[in-house]
Amino acid sequence: MADDNLFYRNIFASILDGMIVVSGERKMIQVNPAAEEMFQQSRESFLHKSCLELFADSSEIENKIGDTLAGGASFHDIECRGIRKSGTVTFPLSLSISPFMNEDNEVQGAVLHTRDKSFILDLEETARQSDQISSLGILSLGMAHEIKNPLVAISGSAQLLRKRLPEEHHEFLDVVIKEADRINRMMDRMLDFARPVDPKKQSINIHQLIEEILVLEKKSGRIQFIQNYDPSLPPIEGNEDRLKQVFLNLIRNAVEAMPEGGIIQIVTRIHSNYTVKTLQNLVSKQGIVVEIIDSGIGINEATMKNLFTPFHTTKSKGSGLGLPISLKIVEDHRGKIKVISKPNQGTTVQVFLPVG
Ligand SMILES: Nc1ncnc2c1ncn2[C@@H]1O[C@H](COP(=O)(O)OP(=O)(O)OP(=O)(O)O)[C@@H](O)[C@H]1O
Ligand SMILES: [Mg+2]
Repeated sequence: MADDNLFYRNIFASILDGMIVVSGERKMIQVNPAAEEMFQQSRESFLHKSCLELFADSSEIENKIGDTLAGGASFHDIECRGIRKSGTVTFPLSLSISPFMNEDNEVQGAVLHTRDKSFILDLEETARQSDQISSLGILSLGMAHEIKNPLVAISGSAQLLRKRLPEEHHEFLDVVIKEADRINRMMDRMLDFARPVDPKKQSINIHQLIEEILVLEKKSGRIQFIQNYDPSLPPIEGNEDRLKQVFLNLIRNAVEAMPEGGIIQIVTRIHSNYTVKTLQNLVSKQGIVVEIIDSGIGINEATMKNLFTPFHTTKSKGSGLGLPISLKIVEDHRGKIKVISKPNQGTTVQVFLPVG
């Protein structure tokens, strides 16, 4: 019996979702480590408090738990909001409620099963936008390829004409040549987007890669860069050229968001993608996060929805391809990009990349 007890306690502690056992009076009598982490409070601060303190929309949940305690009803995947310990931060939560019985089959309390949905919801939003890239991508790449050939002919003929015609006509031909150039550059970017990634993966020191980019960006002197690097950051496997393209795009966007100059922070740290728990300790599968934090103009809601849509730009000289290309490269590396921004409050771009 004692062995059985330990066995069940181990299982309870190993479950990656939050598990909270509540008494008939709705007081919390047992919590597992995943629940402690999710609600950011220690076991001691849960125990003997009302479980309703954990939820922002507590009246709906109070009714449901009431139904469970009174009649043994269960509820699956209720979408609600949880409250972290500070009391001000809420997060999306999926909650299931089931009764637990004593030996005589009487309801003694309820088991709450909670799952934090914040990370998944954020990533779903990026994934929705990235679906658009693949369908749009195929069509536009075909077009890019076809546009480049006649473009060379247009630009070449305009240059010839420019040589032959008197100076008064040059102004117009210069427009033709300049614009043809611009289209050509855009087409190159799009074709680059489709170039298959070199399957050879190298071991990459992200700090070194970022430093190589910053050497160039620092030249303007307008922007101050603060590098906040985690010295224990492990190397990652990937394609150096392509990843350099990603961070160049992101750092350029940050610089372009601060026309008056300012500070850009680059932070690196280890990120636990997912955690495997045992009773005594936590084993984390590792990834890294690189954050590029600017204090620039920020992004409004409309642009936020179209950040990764090809050709969506708010800049007169932009092509709107920097972010979609970066996302594709990062996804090819099994990583994710997350953008957090509000108008006039700067922008934080997080790049998640797996290790090994
Ligand atoms: N750090 C940032 N701060 C403010 N706005 C940003 C930032 N990063 C991206 N944006 C917004 O997202 C849009 C799309 O960015 P993206 O890099 O894809 O294209 P672009 O910068 O406009 O053009 P390109 O990168 O092709 O030269 C930008 O036009 C801008 O409105
Ligand atoms: Mg850009």
